[in-house]
Amino acid sequence: MQITMKTTPTSPEERERILTSPGFGLHRTDHVLQIDYRGDAGWGEAVIKPYGSLSLDPATMGLHYGQLIFEGLKAFVQSDGSVSLFRPAENARRLNESARRLSMPTLDEELFVEAARALVEVELDWVPTGPGQSLYLRPFMFASEAHIGLRVATEYSFLILATPVDPFFSAEVRALSVWIDRDHVRAVRGGTGSVKCAGNYAASMQGKQLANEQGCDEVLWLDAIDRRWIEELGGMNVCFVYGSGDEARLVTPPLDGSILAGITRASLLELGRSRGLTVEEEPIAIDVLFTAMATGEVTEAFACGTATVVAPIGTILCDGVSREISATRPGPVTMGLRAELLAIQTGTSPAFPEWRTRV
Ligand SMILES: Cc1ncc(COP(=O)(O)O)c(C=O)c1O
Repeated sequence: MQITMKTTPTSPEERERILTSPGFGLHRTDHVLQIDYRGDAGWGEAVIKPYGSLSLDPATMGLHYGQLIFEGLKAFVQSDGSVSLFRPAENARRLNESARRLSMPTLDEELFVEAARALVEVELDWVPTGPGQSLYLRPFMFASEAHIGLRVATEYSFLILATPVDPFFSAEVRALSVWIDRDHVRAVRGGTGSVKCAGNYAASMQGKQLANEQGCDEVLWLDAIDRRWIEELGGMNVCFVYGSGDEARLVTPPLDGSILAGITRASLLELGRSRGLTVEEEPIAIDVLFTAMATGEVTEAFACGTATVVAPIGTILCDGVSREISATRPGPVTMGLRAELLAIQTGTSPAFPEWRTRV
């Protein structure tokens, strides 16, 4: 790996100022990692270089035909002061699934993990140490060949940038409100909903905008065929808790081809099972859910993903009717899973040590 350090990096004072309250995605670190792919030559050498603008030909194919995929993962300061990545091999695997779906070249999965580790090692001073803070890594790959005409590109760039982030909820955990979009769909089975390509996010932005216009935080998508089965949010999976105490069941829609297989979702299901919770991956019809909410059978709901970790859902707005789940107090299953996952990510819990990759 070739490493070229920035000659005038951010001063320690400025970096400390940023790390006190980094927000989310507002600041980038001093370096970026890049690996280029050239037709028959395949992948070249990984390079870590000073962060800066990319120079792109206006005919760059990724800008026109959308061969653009990405990932998101976090590095956490551990209780012993070291730094660990949370399940980077899962992101490597998912990036390759996305690459295959979009006819892009796959990247050696060990190289992906090594690249992420190497970048974090160079940027160790940028890993924030406050509660819930982390260094968010954004690996992405796009068709970099300059050509106008629809075909599979022959040249690609893979990059990883890093941005220090605050926890999604900096003070108190707040319950989200979600709106069900009856008119549009995010993804359809056989399409690209189950992979992480930029187009999926473009397709879900209008829904998010409409949700916001109605005073909701997020859009909750239904399936594209029957418009009845709950899928996920624009950038998070969704789980419901039925019952409480020893009888509590954690239920989430199955990965049927249009939902992204979230790494947080998979981790929470495994964590739930290991704690004796009944975990079900079952289709959830919106009308059946509303009945179960009315009878009090549904006790909690939450969204989950790398950025937010776990975010309680308090209300669902659908066809002008707002229904409450736990608008005032996030439930114990939601908050318990959230606290345990955060403890695993930061190494304060010894559970699932294989989920942490030390930098
Ligand atoms: C559409 C969508 N669903 C779910 C998730 C959650 O996935 P993960 O837990 O791997 O971050 C994300 C975030 O990556 C997403 O973009």
